[in-house]
Amino acid sequence: MSLKCAIQLGIPDIIHMHGQPMALAQLIDALPINNAKAPFVYRLMRILIHSGFFIKAKIPDNEGQEGYALTPASKLLLANDPFSLTHTMVIKNCKDVFMGLNSLIDVGGGTGTVAKAIADAFPHLECSVLDLPHVVDGWESSKNLAYVGGDMFEAIPPADAVLLKWILHDWSDEECVQILRKCKEAIPSKEKGGKVIIIDMLLKSQQNGDDDAEAIETQLFFDILMMVHAKGRERNEKDWEKLFLEAGFNGYKITPVLGLRSIIEVYYY
Ligand SMILES: C[S@@+](CC[C@H](N)C(=O)[O-])C[C@H]1O[C@@H](n2cnc3c(N)ncnc32)[C@H](O)[C@@H]1O
Repeated sequence: MSLKCAIQLGIPDIIHMHGQPMALAQLIDALPINNAKAPFVYRLMRILIHSGFFIKAKIPDNEGQEGYALTPASKLLLANDPFSLTHTMVIKNCKDVFMGLNSLIDVGGGTGTVAKAIADAFPHLECSVLDLPHVVDGWESSKNLAYVGGDMFEAIPPADAVLLKWILHDWSDEECVQILRKCKEAIPSKEKGGKVIIIDMLLKSQQNGDDDAEAIETQLFFDILMMVHAKGRERNEKDWEKLFLEAGFNGYKITPVLGLRSIIEVYYY
C-alpha cells in the first residue's frame, strides 16, 4: 500500500527530477496533496526507506542536511525510460526500422518527446502524436510533427507506421487486441510499406542460464508492477504472437536491442 501510494503521488519521478537528494519540506511542497496530509509524508517515506525503495543522502552544500534519494529499486519505478536509455539512443539502434517510411503516428506518445526525436532524425518523415486530448492540448505542431487528440480505442489516423512505445504492457490482452485492430485499420499492408512498431518488454525464457537471472528478475518485477498498478502484464514471444494473430496480423519480426526491451515490427499481408 505504501509503495502504491508513493507511485500514485509520483514520488520517484519528483525526486528524480529534483536532481539531488530532496529535503522533506521540498518533497511536501512538490506533492499534489492537501496540507492536512503533509505530516504523513515523513511516515510514508520512513517505511519506504526501511524497505529499500529510498535512502537518505547528504544534500550538497547544505550543512550536512539529508534528503531523500532513489535506490536501484525506485529507479525501476520512474515513469519514463526506466533503463536510462535516451530517446536519441533508442533511435540510433532502430534506424533501419524507420527507413523507407513516409509517415508515422506515435500512439500514446504523451507530449511528443520520442516523436520529436524521430522527426528531427528523419526530416522527410511526417510524424504525429496521438494521445488523449488533455495530454496533447496546447502543444504546438512544428515542421514535420503534429499533435492529434483522440482515443486509440476509437480510431487511429492513417499512417505508414504506428509506433506503440511502452503502451501495450499497461493493458489486458483483450484491450491490446482492440488497440492492435485499430492500428491495423490505420496502416497499409506490408507490401505497401505498412507496419506497427512496438517497443516494449519481451519476457526472456527462464532457461537461458545464470547470465540472464538478474534481467529476468527485473522483468518479473515489472510484471508484478503491471499487475498491481495497471491492468497489464509483461509478455513472452508466445503471448505477443497470440495478440498479433487475434488482431488480424500475420507476420512479425523481433529485434532484442534495447536492454530488457525489444522492437517488434508487426505486419499483415
Ligand atoms: C506509459 S505512457 C507511454 C508514453 C510514451 N509512449 C513513452 O514511451 O514514453 C502511456 C501513454 O498512453 C496514453 N493513453 C492512455 N490511454 C489512451 C487512449 N485511450 N488513447 C490514446 N492515448 C492514451 C497516456 O496518456 C500516456 O501518455
